[in-house]
Amino acid sequence: MIVDHQGRQFKSLRVSITAACNYACTYCVPNGKKLVAAQDELTTDQLVRAVRLLISTVGIEKLRITGGEPLISPKFDSFLQGVSRLGLQDVSVTTNAQFLEKKATVLLENGIKRLNISLDTLNPLAFSKIARSGDLNTVLRGIETMLEAGVTLKINMVPLRSSNKDQILTLLRFCLARNIELRFIELMNMGHLQHSSTYQNEFVGQDEILQIIGEHYEFARTGSAYDSTSVRYEIIGPEADKHITGAGSRGITDETGRGHFGIIANESEPFCRSCTRLRLSSNGYLYGCLSNSRRHAIHPILEMEDDQAVSHLQAILSNALKDKQDKQFVGEYTVMKFIGG
Ligand code: 5AD
Repeated sequence: MIVDHQGRQFKSLRVSITAACNYACTYCVPNGKKLVAAQDELTTDQLVRAVRLLISTVGIEKLRITGGEPLISPKFDSFLQGVSRLGLQDVSVTTNAQFLEKKATVLLENGIKRLNISLDTLNPLAFSKIARSGDLNTVLRGIETMLEAGVTLKINMVPLRSSNKDQILTLLRFCLARNIELRFIELMNMGHLQHSSTYQNEFVGQDEILQIIGEHYEFARTGSAYDSTSVRYEIIGPEADKHITGAGSRGITDETGRGHFGIIANESEPFCRSCTRLRLSSNGYLYGCLSNSRRHAIHPILEMEDDQAVSHLQAILSNALKDKQDKQFVGEYTVMKFIGG
């Protein structure tokens, strides 16, 4: 068993199938230039084989398909088909939802039951300022399509002081009315943010988010899974009452509360101690930690027979596990696009 001094193991794999993205979010890239696919990206067959080998080596249980933006990759359909046959407990996707309507059939046919959608604002102007591309209405249609199909959705929002802090409640109301769990992600000090004052100026932390929500809702902290990255809260009153009785509200099915929200409080409440994540980049490198640029090439392993490949992977994964931070995220030059959030 590959386990470190803190008892951590790799259980959850995130595969970035492409570095390319159709957005150029301000917190991700500096100059509005969209990232393109790397020249040396692995093929679908190589990626699926890598996942299969990682399942054999460390018993990966959960897989999240990320990018870049995974839905724009020509590999998406075949990769999803390939991994959906590997017996994983859970396969999910993180997407900006721009192509969600178009990809609805392939997602549903391959058994996708959960999706994470990145959406930072419901204001069209702010949307184009942050994402610097895309169309908000297309995203909203994609969300409705998935809800109608019964897919469980989470929305990820990165609150930024200058551009979408005013959307914290707006997005929360939108999500509560649709039984979507909203998760606020504290801005991470990654990529170009490391070299400017932007990070300090834009960061909105857990306390401030809770204060804003607390002016309108009563909430209580609630449990979350051991290796969950988010601190979860349950809305217990009172504005939510209006949503339950209000016209057009639907789908608030949680019996114990009026809905939940979460905060991925990487700064305020670091979760490194229980991190079980392993990342595979589209060009074939394993990363043991989002806050560490150390990477481990798997190209040579993909040339080997299964037995030999698994024993080499064991050695690589023992090393990759040492890359995890002891306590907290310390920032890194790597950007999310390369290794997938
Ligand atoms: N800080 C916080 N969240 C980020 N994301 C991308 N870059 C950052 C950052 N620097 C988010 C995206 C997406 C998720 C995978 O990570 O918005 O929702």
